[in-house]
Amino acid sequence: MSELDSVPLRDDLRGEVPYGAPQIDVPVRLNVNENPYPPSAGLIADIAAAVGAAAGGLNRYPDREARQLRADLAGYLKAFESVDVDPLRVWVANGSNEVMHQLMLAFGGPGRSVLAFAPTYSMYPQYCRDTFTHYQAVDREPDFSLDPRVAIAAVRARQPVITLLTSPNNPTGTALPQDTARAVLDAAAEHGGLVVVDEAYAEFRRPGTPTALELLDEYPNLVVTRTMSKAFAYAGARVGYLVAGQPIVDAVRIVRLPYHLSTVTQAVASAALSHADELLAQVEALRIERDATVDWLRVQGFSVAESDANFVLFGEFADRHAVWQGLLDRGVLIRESGPAPWLRVSVGSPAEMAAFKQALLEVAATAVGERARPYGKVEA
Ligand SMILES: Cc1ncc(COP(=O)(O)O)c(C=O)c1O
Repeated sequence: MSELDSVPLRDDLRGEVPYGAPQIDVPVRLNVNENPYPPSAGLIADIAAAVGAAAGGLNRYPDREARQLRADLAGYLKAFESVDVDPLRVWVANGSNEVMHQLMLAFGGPGRSVLAFAPTYSMYPQYCRDTFTHYQAVDREPDFSLDPRVAIAAVRARQPVITLLTSPNNPTGTALPQDTARAVLDAAAEHGGLVVVDEAYAEFRRPGTPTALELLDEYPNLVVTRTMSKAFAYAGARVGYLVAGQPIVDAVRIVRLPYHLSTVTQAVASAALSHADELLAQVEALRIERDATVDWLRVQGFSVAESDANFVLFGEFADRHAVWQGLLDRGVLIRESGPAPWLRVSVGSPAEMAAFKQALLEVAATAVGERARPYGKVEA
């Protein structure tokens, strides 16, 4: 007998639990792909000033259309991604989670399906559940890449209203070649389907790795979603956005709650965008730390998935839970994510990564560190 039995919960939600990774207060938290660097003193001062200015108008509802923030986001994309989009093609909400939820509300629903490629972000099935949209996932290759032939065949056979491409993918870190994105966009266009490329981690991609933003003018069925949670180190502010054709933005505006993005959120988001230079310099430091972590793990004999994100998937363990617990016992929290033999570690500061490495070496030296497969790289 659950306490939920006393309330008229939707039948399809019975037995479900709220989503969320454990929030455990330990010295080294590397489990939810946060950026380890808090805002600088300069940014904190600008945030405080922006909140102060916004405070005087809090008796009024916020700008429903978040016009200033959408213009600032378009300005950021132009300056840092060389992509010129009209602010009317940018839409912003409380985290890319809410953006994605709004997309499902507008385009999903009974009788409609979403297609993703597993292993991938664990929230996707939940957005679908909440919006009565059928969720289906097709497996990635053993190295976590996406075979374009498999993807095209799946899109043609299943005709999803939305095909979700996550690049870089969570939890594997795998980025998508532009040819694969094009192939999926073309296949989806055959039945009038949209393709949402979730680029939550795009700023961490390695040089030469493309962004789907470059394809926006060519493909009216493309939506690119991004977030300020990772590269902008703003997970607590809850700001995510999408870029797409204006009809897609207008469709999402139909389902958004009125005044969904508070005046304070809009103001602090614009404040952070004015510090993009400084924040992206930290991203560069994290990319260097990520690549060093990948190299170190390989030298230690672990399998490591290629990563274009701010986290690394490594393994392969006979009992990953025991390894996770062993690290936690040493004050280092990482994530049991992806296929069973693998673990995911977010890239933290040099001091946090040193603590992680030390703890992993200690755990690996004990019986629980036993590997599921012989040491070596991921097999292609
Ligand atoms: C692939 C992916 N998309 C979207 C999100 C949601 O990010 P947020 O709602 O903080 O913008 C995450 C968060 O971890 C993610 O990993």
